Amino acid sequence: MGKSILKHTKKQIFKYLLPAAFLCLLLAHAFSKRLVIRRYEETSPLLENTVRMAVITDLHAGIYGDGQDELLGALQKEDPDVILLVGDIADDEVPDDGVWMLLSEIGGAYPCFYVSGNHEFWSGRAEALKQKIEEYGVEVLEGEGRTLEINGTKLQIFGVDDPDCFGGGARLTDGSSAEWQGQLAACEAARRDGIYSVLMSHRPELVQDYENSGFDLVVSGHAHGGQIRIPLILNGLFAPNQGWFPSYAGGRYLLGDTAMIVSRGLCRNELPRIYNRPELVMIEITPA
Ligand SMILES: [Fe+2]
Repeated sequence: MGKSILKHTKKQIFKYLLPAAFLCLLLAHAFSKRLVIRRYEETSPLLENTVRMAVITDLHAGIYGDGQDELLGALQKEDPDVILLVGDIADDEVPDDGVWMLLSEIGGAYPCFYVSGNHEFWSGRAEALKQKIEEYGVEVLEGEGRTLEINGTKLQIFGVDDPDCFGGGARLTDGSSAEWQGQLAACEAARRDGIYSVLMSHRPELVQDYENSGFDLVVSGHAHGGQIRIPLILNGLFAPNQGWFPSYAGGRYLLGDTAMIVSRGLCRNELPRIYNRPELVMIEITPA
């Protein structure tokens, strides 16, 4: 009798408990919003030495650990040569605390550059935010660039505002305004051949503007990885300005002679992220 009960219990475990445990693990993995480091490698004959860039986008004033410890710890470990803040670092509905926790630590410690995202304009405080961001030692780029020397190698970093800067209050405008095109043209005109060049632009969907723009690399965000992904099958379900099944939700894309890297960003708002962990992007550019 006892043996038969034991046999029955064992059967029940294999039939129900193990599949349930497996399903729980699978769901926890799929819905995880734990920070991940996503790495990209670029090569260029224009560099003499390797340059490592960290990309932070779409933080939306989110907080990673006590005082941003988790994000700051990851940055410290990666030890980038330069940090690019590619828009939607602040938010229109979330208090700014997480932004200043981050910038107060990185502003003086690394060369940092910032361009705006749409949510910073939606907050109605974009100009005040930019001013405060600069006070933390971060360079704000608005249709302009800087040439830096890192590890004995020159590097050009350009940046444009989000197109909503010129939308007169409209949301998710495209890049057709004369002002936005003017910012891009000013960057293109200032770019010098023979020095590796990076364009920071929050919007990934403006590929026609980036294609053969002359920049070696465009860095974007905004798409949040398309929120829901299925590995090897679906690279994003929906992204603003791209709609369903976005073509540029996250990853590396080649646009003529220009590469574009789109971060899936760090946003951890109430929307689910499925197989789409928030990411700190590290780009290592090595001499060819
Ligand atoms: Fe955005």
